[in-house]
Amino acid sequence: MSADVPHAPSASRAALALFARSFRGRPRSAASAPGRVNLIGEHLDYNGGPVLPMAVARRTAVVAAPGRFFEAVTARDGVVDRFDPAGPMRGAWTDYLAGVVRALERRGVRLPGASLAVASTVPEGGGLSSSAAPTVAAARALAALSRARLGAEVLAEVAWEAEHEEVGVRCGRMDQVIAALAAPGKALLYDTGTGARRAIPFRGKLWLVDTGVRHRLTDGGYNQRRGECEEALRALRAQGWSLPSLAAYPLDRLPPELPPNLARRATHVVTESERVRHAAAALAARDLRTLGRLMTESHLSLRDRFEASCEEADVLVEAAGRLGAYGARLTGAGWGGTVIVLLPERDAARVIVELQQQFGRIYGRIPEAWSTGASSGVKREPLPGRS
Ligand code: GLA
Repeated sequence: MSADVPHAPSASRAALALFARSFRGRPRSAASAPGRVNLIGEHLDYNGGPVLPMAVARRTAVVAAPGRFFEAVTARDGVVDRFDPAGPMRGAWTDYLAGVVRALERRGVRLPGASLAVASTVPEGGGLSSSAAPTVAAARALAALSRARLGAEVLAEVAWEAEHEEVGVRCGRMDQVIAALAAPGKALLYDTGTGARRAIPFRGKLWLVDTGVRHRLTDGGYNQRRGECEEALRALRAQGWSLPSLAAYPLDRLPPELPPNLARRATHVVTESERVRHAAAALAARDLRTLGRLMTESHLSLRDRFEASCEEADVLVEAAGRLGAYGARLTGAGWGGTVIVLLPERDAARVIVELQQQFGRIYGRIPEAWSTGASSGVKREPLPGRS
């Protein structure tokens, strides 16, 4: 158990050391971007609904220098991969970086090549947006190399295009927007239907418990769910509903007349949108008890209607409730990753240890747990010898 991961080496120090080990010459730019949790509002960002994410204390850093071709190394394996952004995607991790380069080029940022070192303290596949953090950080570091001045909103869009258009994960914009625009001490209410954003203070700490179950967005379940939501919207429009998005279907007309699986997906989307609106009001009023209750309801909807949970997460959420947490839910795309737990600060240490032990008795391993406040979005990182 750890608070704000003080023992975790800083991602930017690790990326600088990796750069020095892997490439000749000096780095010319460095940037980092945070992982995120979504407090509530799951699978709404591609359905036109509101989401309520915040940045966490763990980050991904990218250190870069200009070059004649593109090459990148990640601290994960220390192997330098040469890639060609003009060529086809190869199923390699550097596809994400190639996507960033292409999206930057579309905005007139031209680079003949670059050497990039990437290091991260965001657990991969942990549902904490381990892919938006590097793309947003890379967009910032590469833009700095060419002295392009791109605002945070443009960086978010560049990173989203890299993942959505180039790599082909049909994600929404939540992860990139929070990684680029997060403000310390604040969660972000982001209405993906209108694009409106409102920062809401999040003063306390949130606990994160890693189920240890890993799922990658490229595995297919995510795109399948998105396809089902699109099918539901098409079917409702064919019935005569004039809807800008699935989230706009009226709450008081649930369940919709659709095949059972599509009706469940649509009911999740519509009820979840309503929960987010209540949750945002509760957070603004510092009513953590109500926020927690809504988080747990959100989890149950993700489990039963969206069918995107996993047993380990269900066990943790249920146990957290019994142990006196305000609420808990699986955050991110689902099918594994991290359970977030909101609980009274004075009980936190006791409840989290008990939660880990209960999990340990069932699964024979102690899940990692840590806490975080709301952290900051993308930023430049200092280079050695400069301030
Ligand atoms: C992933 C995607 C996001 C969002 C969530 C589910 O994190 O990248 O766009 O759809 O899943 O809420």
